[in-house]
Amino acid sequence: MGENFPQLPAGFLFGASTASYQIEGAWDEDGKGPSIWDTFTTEPGRIKDGSSGQVACDHYHRHVEDVGLMKQLGLGSYRFSISWPRVQPDGRGPVSDGQAGNRGLDFYDRLVDELVGAGVEPMATLYHWDLPQALQDVGGWEARDTAERFAEYAALCVARLGDRVAKWVPVNEPNVVTLAGHGIGEHAPGRALGFGAVPVAHHLNLAHGLAVQALRAGGAMAVGTANNHTVVQPASDSRGDADAADLFDSLWNRLFADPVLLGSYPEGFAEMMRGPDSEDIAKDLHTIRQPLDFYGVNYYYPTSIAAAAVGAEIPFEQRQITGYPTTDFGWPVVPEGLRDVIRQLRERYPDIAPLYVTENGASYGMGPDEHGVVDDQPRIDYLAGHLGAVANAITEGADVRGYYCWSLMDNFEWAEGYAQRFGLVHVDYDTLVRTPKRSFGWYADLIRATRESGQ
Ligand code: FCB
Repeated sequence: MGENFPQLPAGFLFGASTASYQIEGAWDEDGKGPSIWDTFTTEPGRIKDGSSGQVACDHYHRHVEDVGLMKQLGLGSYRFSISWPRVQPDGRGPVSDGQAGNRGLDFYDRLVDELVGAGVEPMATLYHWDLPQALQDVGGWEARDTAERFAEYAALCVARLGDRVAKWVPVNEPNVVTLAGHGIGEHAPGRALGFGAVPVAHHLNLAHGLAVQALRAGGAMAVGTANNHTVVQPASDSRGDADAADLFDSLWNRLFADPVLLGSYPEGFAEMMRGPDSEDIAKDLHTIRQPLDFYGVNYYYPTSIAAAAVGAEIPFEQRQITGYPTTDFGWPVVPEGLRDVIRQLRERYPDIAPLYVTENGASYGMGPDEHGVVDDQPRIDYLAGHLGAVANAITEGADVRGYYCWSLMDNFEWAEGYAQRFGLVHVDYDTLVRTPKRSFGWYADLIRATRESGQ
């Protein structure tokens, strides 16, 4: 193969990922209820540029055009998320206008048909952070009941879409939901509970387990995860930094992977997990550890952790990793970190299911030049480096079956608003015009070359 393409197996699945709130817009159409992100974005100071996902990429009205772009790319699979409050405006009960006529599910039904027609395998995430506000009003993920409601919602989705959705992911990045949404309050619902957020982790894990059961009962073809992983390095060889790094590793990686894959919590955590409702953690762990068809890993960068000053509320601090280029978001570009994450997962969980990289990508802000060309060479370098790391992991024996680039198109990047652009496709937010970037052409060529390498 030319162009220094990473050498991946001919059957390797190339995908791209998005999430409902980040791209759909149509925030109050067709009976959709408000989500916690609809609320959060109206609170002053929460979003850097004061924006919201009310319109976003207007994908809700332009999904046919967007699937056309995927077809042009030659994508093997597309990972999208379903907006819970489109399906259940209040997060509970039967779908408002009857299962067959639910306008939220109608949209995903059309999207899935369009994907299948374009030869793109649908991977659906059930929760990519847009909780119905009505559930937040009664405790959100701090309440155990939300996990039960989530299983009912999962059942509604699989009943309608399960005959065509190839892979299901219950919860995207439960660690980010716990820490950013409930530990420090940078994400919706904006709770800053510190270590008090730990029961949220348990409820998200339980939601995963209950949803896997509901999806299986509804005949789902394959069920997995999309957990965010990082390799944690101590900032120095001091004892304090090593302990702080261990603690962060437990909180970020193991608090979510251990229960799902081993049926246990890291030592010392089980007692902390119990929320205000009396909960039988050991019993729940049985529910959480469900057999999985695949394990999805979202990876962006490795993490360096130092001990915080004595008496600090949070006993660790994140340090900038030096010696590597950074993206426009300031994130270090460390492709071998992805191989390290995969290696660590295989060491910790020898029986782990086949892996997919369910998100990986980079933010670079360049837009079209006077010829309409978006020259995003750094993104090409980023993708080539990380796909090369995947190829190395496979050579080492890892069973990695696919890779989903974050993201198909520029979109609403949570607390950062529209400033960070992760797309293979540029979006002009005034006109909503889509312009494939150079990375789009590179990815399309790689996909074609890899497929042809097996013929
Ligand atoms: C991940 C999120 C995704 C996107 C990328 C950049 O943590 O799952 O929605 O924001 O980061």
